[in-house]
Amino acid sequence: MSDSNEPEKVEGAPQKSHGVLYIGMDLGTSRTSVSASNGVRETVYSVVGYPKDVVSQKLLKKDVLFGKEALEKRLSLRMYKPLEKGVLKYSDGDDQDRSEVEKAARDLIREAIRLAQPRKDELVYAVIGAPAQASITNREAIIEAARATVDSVMLCSEPFAVAYGLDMLEDALVIDIGAGTTDLCRMHGTMPEESDQLTLTYAGDAVDRKLTELIQASCPGAGFTPQMVKDIKERHSFVGATASPVVVTLPVDGKPTQFDITAQVQEACSILVDPIVDGLRKLIATFDPEFQHRLRNRVLLAGGGSMIKGLDTAIEEAMNRDLGGGKVIRVEEPIYGGANGALKIAHDMPEEYWEQLK
Ligand SMILES: Nc1ncnc2c1ncn2[C@@H]1O[C@H](COP(=O)(O)OP(=O)(O)OP(=O)(O)O)[C@@H](O)[C@H]1O
Ligand SMILES: [Mg+2]
Repeated sequence: MSDSNEPEKVEGAPQKSHGVLYIGMDLGTSRTSVSASNGVRETVYSVVGYPKDVVSQKLLKKDVLFGKEALEKRLSLRMYKPLEKGVLKYSDGDDQDRSEVEKAARDLIREAIRLAQPRKDELVYAVIGAPAQASITNREAIIEAARATVDSVMLCSEPFAVAYGLDMLEDALVIDIGAGTTDLCRMHGTMPEESDQLTLTYAGDAVDRKLTELIQASCPGAGFTPQMVKDIKERHSFVGATASPVVVTLPVDGKPTQFDITAQVQEACSILVDPIVDGLRKLIATFDPEFQHRLRNRVLLAGGGSMIKGLDTAIEEAMNRDLGGGKVIRVEEPIYGGANGALKIAHDMPEEYWEQLK
């Protein structure tokens, strides 16, 4: 899989006779974002819902719903989260399930392209950020899913896209904290290889699980859903010094009750720090000794999880303690970093790198 970052190189250069809309897409477990050459940027939660029966279909007046709207109407819908760790999610051998997930992925990509507002006469060229370790079959599956709505496609790894977007292709370490995985990627002036990348399962979902446990243990009788826990985290997440107390209202026996969960939020968010620093250590230690200090001093924090307050400082402190120093920079646009980078790749790549789909 050492070539997993190489753009798909395929025969046939795209025709330039029509206008082309370039789209950078970050196809994530939790969120799909697009950034397009017409200036449009949009993001949608990576969930797809289909009406359960004729009644719900009549009620909703739609065949398919996406993102927030699907989450709101989820009781009437068959819900799909087609991407797991950025790859199409299905258990092998279950053909029924598989074709439905593929349809959901196709519809999600179609929706993301629609959000980018291509004109009718425009060709759509999309660079899709997929996870660093996506297997070949899954890469094929993603390309297949794009085929229905995209004229030409290229895949690249997510952390590579983030680094490319910031022009930090040399001597940098990218940490992309998503929902399912945290991807670390070492940049040294070439396409990253397998040995430059590391994937951890400590990411946003793991924080949600930990926070759920801690709230269950410390708020007796409180009722809450996974979505409520995630909302609480996204509103109040922090590590290190306490900024302000986190007080939430949860129902106990139907009665809204206040709980102070400052310590719980801090503890849950903190589970990311050690695994990340451990991963950084591995990528730094196996790098050319003369250049290790350069990597240490350009650590980029990206992805939704990078919005945890104090996380950059906490990682720096741990690096100072364990790795003899380091500098962590938070990317300015955690949500669009991957999509922006993918768009830049789209602009820069020579034509022979594009895979023609139509
Ligand atoms: N303010 C916030 N504080 C902490 N976590 C946050 C915040 N905002 C979003 N997140 C978390 O970031 C994660 C989503 O990040 P992102 O959109 O980068 O993931 P993704 O690209 O969809 O996932 P993956 O990279 O695993 O495929 C979710 O777990 C979400 O709860
Ligand atoms: Mg991501």
